[in-house]
Amino acid sequence: MIYLDNASTSFPKCPGVKQILNDYLEKGALNINRSTSASSFDLEEKIFDIRESVKRFFNAPKNSYVVFTRGVTESINLFVNGFLNKNDSVLVSPYEHNAVIRPLTENGININIIDQDKCVDNIKCVIINHASNVTGNVYELGNAKRIAQKLRIPLVLDTAQSAGCVKVDMSAIGADFLAFSAHKGLLGLQGAGGAIITEELAKKIKPLIFGGTGSLSSSYNMPDFLPDKFEAGTLNIPGILSLGEGIKFVENYGIENIHSHKKQLREECIKGLSAISGISVIGDTDKENTGVVSFISSNVDNAVIASLLDNQYGIATRVGLQCAPLAHKTLNTFNIGGTVRVSFSLFNTLSEVEVLLDALTAILKTNQ
Ligand code: ALA
Repeated sequence: MIYLDNASTSFPKCPGVKQILNDYLEKGALNINRSTSASSFDLEEKIFDIRESVKRFFNAPKNSYVVFTRGVTESINLFVNGFLNKNDSVLVSPYEHNAVIRPLTENGININIIDQDKCVDNIKCVIINHASNVTGNVYELGNAKRIAQKLRIPLVLDTAQSAGCVKVDMSAIGADFLAFSAHKGLLGLQGAGGAIITEELAKKIKPLIFGGTGSLSSSYNMPDFLPDKFEAGTLNIPGILSLGEGIKFVENYGIENIHSHKKQLREECIKGLSAISGISVIGDTDKENTGVVSFISSNVDNAVIASLLDNQYGIATRVGLQCAPLAHKTLNTFNIGGTVRVSFSLFNTLSEVEVLLDALTAILKTNQ
């Protein structure tokens, strides 16, 4: 298989993940904050170190905390449920995916697009998808930061697509809440991730789930200190360990090196696609990008293309709306059912791009 669906989830994972999971399973797949054993205490230390590495990786503000969740979707739900109230108004980017749009809609929040020039009163926060999962383009954050600072409201940054792909500097961006997942650009496992929350904002957020934390066990209520306030139940320890390995790998390899490899693949891909008659690349092609190319064909149905790529050439892509109807409305691809999306990782090669381009040329020739 040639795997070109890394925006959905990365594959392969980084090399350290297999080793750390082997060690975990062989040397003691234990719990933390609940056991009285030296091995459990060792594991607690490892998880503590990973929290520190998350803070370092995203250059989190000093007065902030890392909270582990199942990933971006759960982190956004934590914020929306815990901070906003029905009928509140928020600003979002024009490229949001359903991890943001659905929690807002289901909680009765009024959604306003930040780039539309209309005055909206009583805005409670700004939520921005840092990079579009449809085009891979990185969103320019200056306006969001200015508005959040002027109105003194939280800036929430969703790094589902950007973490591990481009530098994300939470302090410079001025974000108060940063949601991340382990399994995409950070090359770890699915079902792990978290949020970095400033101390001030964390005080104003109610927990999403309630239960045991291994701390303050005499109380029927959740602790109000972090991270326990937001971490009821047993954590996804294998996932968090994989996150630690992913961060280590990206830091050691260098995010610029990862970015420039994917940039080269993307440029070759776009160049090749432009030479195939009937194919159009969607979205600006000159913006900072995470290594994604979305395209449509005027001659052959997108779903047919994606399925032939898979069935006849073993090339995995993602077709359709990619859980991002708002982004597709912005890009004018909603009514045609979205795009075929290829998304690269560090582990893809130029020869795989050539195989993709040859396959597409053949598919378009024989299926017009
Ligand atoms: N949001 C993920 C994607 O774009 C799942 O495929």
